[in-house]
Amino acid sequence: MNTLMRRALLLMHSRTYCIKQYAVAGTEAAAKGKLNYEEFIDSRHQQAQRSIVVQVSSEKSYPELYNYCSRFGHIVTVQHYCVQHEDVLHYMLLEYASAGEATAAITSSAYNAELSGSSSGSGSGCGVPVRSPFLWFRAATAGAGRRGQAKLAANHKALPLSTIDGTRPPTHDYLQELLRGANSIEQQLQLLYDQTRLNDLGVRMRFLAALQVQESISGMFPDALAQPFGSSVNGFGKMGCDLDLILRFDGKTTANGLDSQREASRLIYHTKENLSNGRSQTQRQMECIGDVLHLFLPGVCHVRRILQARVPIIKYHHEHLDLEVDLSMSNLTGFYMSELLYMFGELDSRVRPLTFSVRRWAQSCGLTNPSPGRWITNFSLTCLVMFFMQQLRQPILPAIGALAKAASATDIRVTEDGINCTFARDMERVGFQSRNTSSLSELLLQFFEFYSQFDFHNRAISLNEGRALAKPDHSAMYIVNPLEQLLNVSKNVSLEECERLRIEVRNAAWMLESEVENTTLTESERREQSWGLLNLFKNPEKSVIRPNMFFKPRMVEVSDLFDKSQTAAMTPPAVNYKNAT
Ligand code: GTP
Ligand code: MG
Repeated sequence: MNTLMRRALLLMHSRTYCIKQYAVAGTEAAAKGKLNYEEFIDSRHQQAQRSIVVQVSSEKSYPELYNYCSRFGHIVTVQHYCVQHEDVLHYMLLEYASAGEATAAITSSAYNAELSGSSSGSGSGCGVPVRSPFLWFRAATAGAGRRGQAKLAANHKALPLSTIDGTRPPTHDYLQELLRGANSIEQQLQLLYDQTRLNDLGVRMRFLAALQVQESISGMFPDALAQPFGSSVNGFGKMGCDLDLILRFDGKTTANGLDSQREASRLIYHTKENLSNGRSQTQRQMECIGDVLHLFLPGVCHVRRILQARVPIIKYHHEHLDLEVDLSMSNLTGFYMSELLYMFGELDSRVRPLTFSVRRWAQSCGLTNPSPGRWITNFSLTCLVMFFMQQLRQPILPAIGALAKAASATDIRVTEDGINCTFARDMERVGFQSRNTSSLSELLLQFFEFYSQFDFHNRAISLNEGRALAKPDHSAMYIVNPLEQLLNVSKNVSLEECERLRIEVRNAAWMLESEVENTTLTESERREQSWGLLNLFKNPEKSVIRPNMFFKPRMVEVSDLFDKSQTAAMTPPAVNYKNAT
């Protein structure tokens, strides 16, 4: 199957979202070069500051919108995407050449008096005027519309359609078709990664969601910083993954340091005294931020506060981005852990595709589950893959301890609660070079074989040392938390689930081995039937909550963790966009 056919299939099968990107003169080439984690995060933050999202009535509005928005500056890229609501909603993500131009577009925007109730002064309850990068494009008045038509035609011709892409994961059927058309298991593994990983638009959307939170409170908290972490930025995210966000009131000062003028200032802000208990202080602050998000931020809906969890979070849905967000205010180790994973992923091109296939396999046999519970999480599973690659005879990844040893003064990072996250950011300093030449499919088979033999009963997994240690307690599965080495990342995993993992890896090893050995299928037979990875993955959409032979897991719904009456009250009314152009 050629690339065009694959693209066509993708369009047919994955259409809750459809995206078109229009290449506009001066398209940014930044993402091409290799960036370290901080540079990557910084460049995406800046990109979000140059961007706006405009809701339009359809894709046809593009030339008119482009023409109108060009008055504020030079538009570098435009991406069109749709969100399935009751109807299909259309959006254009515009990136300007500079943050000032995007700010000019936002500053020029009006409020809808009808919706806000501001003209009547009645305060009807919906549409409090709020500044945000989420806008909508209203129909032009008759005269202005005609005046614009002549210019539009010329501009429209100048904009070629360059790519078609998606941000929702491809459907099971589409992937089946795609993987069946591959030449080898090796190619299947690469295709799976290429087709399901988070794409450029997905990353842009996530940084815009972060910027919205940050900007919404920047008047009162000018040093506030909202930073994405987790799979949205560590390179292990798939399309449709959630956004993990950490909001820190003093983030800008701790991330970039104070500028010298402020540093030297003799005038110091008065501040409120902290409560004696840091945790309850964070919970109170999060409650308040949760209210702000819920009451004022456009697009934010279904706000839920889960404040009793080990890391208190606010969960919400962003309806203009079709995105689930988990916002925390006290989880900086998660941010640095994401940096470690990002570095591992960058170090060797096999790391991410291998992790994707393991995660997909685990999802397909119901080992992982979107709800929290006694099953292994994606993060623990990722740790298993990283550890596997560290302990190989020819390691593909170094131990984290080696990174910590090679750290220089510029690598020192200590979180506000004293957790040391110091490790070398420059892999050159570590001097690690892998001589491992195994293919992806060989590694996948070795992964399954390794864990079907692993002594989970007595041994703990240490990514810091890159080897197994004696287990310090009776947890069913023990993965030393790389940044807080007294904690167990997989403490939640029950004995039954650990045993199920062992059985599933054994089955997978057996299955994959016979697939690797089976080279007798002709090309047409391959197209007709399941082979290779397809026999490893059952339909994940159908088997997420598969009962197992040992026990039936009790599904812990997120909603069990908080007060339901509060959630219902926090769901905002739908907004009427009938006037959008
Ligand atoms: P998905 O959301 O499933 O796509 O993966 P994720 O990697 O984003 O996992 P999750 O949302 O559960 O966690 C977000 C990030 O927090 C992870 O990528 C880690 O960086 C970090 N994290 C999660 N659990 C732990 C933990 O137990 N210890 C540490 N140090 N970090 C963790
Ligand atoms: Mg996540």
